[in-house]
Amino acid sequence: MSPMSRGMKRQSGSLSGVALISLVVGAGVVAGALLWRPAAVQDPASEPSVEYGRRLLRETAALLGPGHEDPAMQYTGTYMDCASCHLDTGTRPGTLSLLQSATQYPRFSGRDGGERDLRDRINGCMTRSMNGRELSRDSLEMLSMEMYIRQLNEQFGVMGESRRQSGEPATFAEPDRAADVAAGELVYQERCQVCHGEDGEGLAASTDMAEGYLFPPLWGPDSFNNGAGMTRLLTAARFIKARMPLGQPDLTDDEAYDVAAFVNSHERPQRANLEQDYPDLTNKPVDSPYPPYADTFPIEQHRLGPFEPIREFYRDLAVSGDR
Ligand code: HEC
Ligand code: HEC
Repeated sequence: MSPMSRGMKRQSGSLSGVALISLVVGAGVVAGALLWRPAAVQDPASEPSVEYGRRLLRETAALLGPGHEDPAMQYTGTYMDCASCHLDTGTRPGTLSLLQSATQYPRFSGRDGGERDLRDRINGCMTRSMNGRELSRDSLEMLSMEMYIRQLNEQFGVMGESRRQSGEPATFAEPDRAADVAAGELVYQERCQVCHGEDGEGLAASTDMAEGYLFPPLWGPDSFNNGAGMTRLLTAARFIKARMPLGQPDLTDDEAYDVAAFVNSHERPQRANLEQDYPDLTNKPVDSPYPPYADTFPIEQHRLGPFEPIREFYRDLAVSGDR
């Protein structure tokens, strides 16, 4: 019942002048209600909200996944969730935490060759890590995710020092050699396969794929695509050393390095036009696994290392003023 009809009922039988005043006041209330709608009584998905943003990161498969009943809402190309990589929905300090991301943007992106803001960065993960398509910049979903990530930063601001500590193993230190895929396979079989599966396919939470994964896939058709950050050996090794095996991250640097190489030696979805990334190729990370490069090191070395000789080449290039 609208405030006006409620008001009119209460006034029934009274003097017509009073009724008129109440009508005018009632109309004002209605007009006001149209302008100011309290968030609490709204369907969470009809207005951007922190809560909807949090759900979008945690239940991405259900809300934006390839099986969504409304084809217009099928945004991701995988049943993984953002939280498959941004653990605890980005709230845990340390590797791939989103607690401070709001303060990192806008900033220059070498990959895009220009200044990019938080929404562009979210779309970066939408189209690469989630193998999907871009959300419109002003959609409910984009605005909600952005609100959620900004809210995380406010939480970080009031967190005590001890809660800000990540509790992770010492950061990954890169071995001075090429990664050994065969050694990585052994690590995989002993430490990863039990959850991520014999063929890296992961384990669905139920027969309904909209419920996402209990253990997400590491390669194959439903994994992140070949333009994702996780395909970089050093990015993957850092994450794996810090977070995996889940609940017991105790790999050595060598094991993390080799198993990351093994994971990324497999087939995964292909992203078109990757050669257009990094318009200035001297900004390309040394472990970017796809060509072209501004150097003549073999592609195998960009995929597996050792990386120090490649860094040295670019340092010399910068010094000689040739870039
Ligand atoms: C396959 C793993 C993976 C998935 C899934 C994933 N991301 Fe990411 N995300 C990454 C990696 C890797 C980075 C880059 C970290 C770096 O630059 O070293 C990143 C970076 C980000 C950043 C920037 C963080 C910062 O502080 O600079 C945001 C924001 C982000 N992701 C949001 C999302 C959202 C939203 C989703 C879901 C739509 C998502 N990600 C899904 C791996 C993933
Ligand atoms: C006890 C089960 C378990 C084990 C063992 C385990 N993981 Fe995971 N892994 C997970 C879960 C669960 C996630 C998703 C995070 C979440 O849901 O909180 C994940 C996420 C990942 C991701 C990012 C998401 C994706 O699918 O790409 C990578 C990469 C990964 N694990 C690699 C490894 C590697 C390498 C090992 C072995 C060294 C390993 N994991 C061992 C459970 C496990």
